[in-house]
Amino acid sequence: MKKVGFVGWRGMVGSVLMERMTAENDFADIEPVFFSTSQVGQAGPDVGKDIPALGDAKSIDELKALDVIVTCQGGDYTNEVYAKLREAGWDGYWIDAASTLRMKDDSVIVLDPVNRSVIDSALHNGTKDFVGGNCTVSLMLMGLGGLFNEGLVQWASAQTYQAASGSGAQNMRELIAQMGKIHGDVSDKLADPASAILDIDRQVAASMRSDAMPREHFGFPLAGSLLPWIDKEMENGQSKEEWKAQAETNKILGRSSDPIALDGTCVRIGAMRCHAQALTVKLNSDVPMDEVNDIIAKSNDWVKVVPNTKEDTLRDLTPTAVTGTLGIPVGRLRKLNMGGEFLNAFTVGDQLLWGAAEPLRRMLRILLE
Ligand code: HSE
Repeated sequence: MKKVGFVGWRGMVGSVLMERMTAENDFADIEPVFFSTSQVGQAGPDVGKDIPALGDAKSIDELKALDVIVTCQGGDYTNEVYAKLREAGWDGYWIDAASTLRMKDDSVIVLDPVNRSVIDSALHNGTKDFVGGNCTVSLMLMGLGGLFNEGLVQWASAQTYQAASGSGAQNMRELIAQMGKIHGDVSDKLADPASAILDIDRQVAASMRSDAMPREHFGFPLAGSLLPWIDKEMENGQSKEEWKAQAETNKILGRSSDPIALDGTCVRIGAMRCHAQALTVKLNSDVPMDEVNDIIAKSNDWVKVVPNTKEDTLRDLTPTAVTGTLGIPVGRLRKLNMGGEFLNAFTVGDQLLWGAAEPLRRMLRILLE
């Protein structure tokens, strides 16, 4: 059995990974070893079998004994430990949720329902570093990867609606605190049916702008508003999140040398953990809609085409419907007024599942095949 070390398993992505691995009985097929940076020697989690006490996540000697390391500990940890481990001669598989190693030439971004052939040929060629993709990119490809893999996409533009979870657990808490603050500040007026809506609105705006609005993590009010910038500034005016769309999509598809153009605007909204995105896809030809629907529907086991009706869309194509599930609905599929080569699409996915934890646990399973 492969000896698999887990680092960062208590954080948000790590906890989702643990839940999924437990649900799929993954621990039965490995010898798990859990590591910690702060609680070395304490008992590990209950995974249904005997496991050693928590190892030291910074000990190169301990890590060297592993066949596989799965880390959700974050980029600082990868920066601190990965190179030392390789310099010490470790030749195992490194599966990482952080972006640090994502764009390295000798790493592969894992999303096996979309790029299993890229993963298989990398394994065949001796690649050892497998990194989870940016959540927005992974969720877009889980939905529309079929069109890309069929060679039908000339370019695409995504306008995103990204959940608080993409910023971290503290941000999810802060979003709810902001919602509560707004409600608390107007609850007396709300309870009074005779109060004027414009008075309520003025109070809401004043609350959102006041110093009392919790904003330690987002820096700004998100509840009742939106934040049209995610991640660092690039020199060309894109945000780093927007930059990732083209860079990572093409790397996932194994076509970085012949890239498809992708660009758009990434926006944080007040959803908890589902990212949504509206896409304009320029097809290479006027592919009939039934063919488009068919290619998308058959591209993997989790994607589901939502009929483009108001009822189906509002029931099935929302963060509320999707949160906590592995389903990837794709809807609003129709040709745009610009012409038969211009496809409209909208997709939603759980940022912590397909956007983070699920591709990692599936990569581990691929190593066990
Ligand atoms: N960068 C993403 C976001 C999450 O901020 O929503 C990580 O992929």
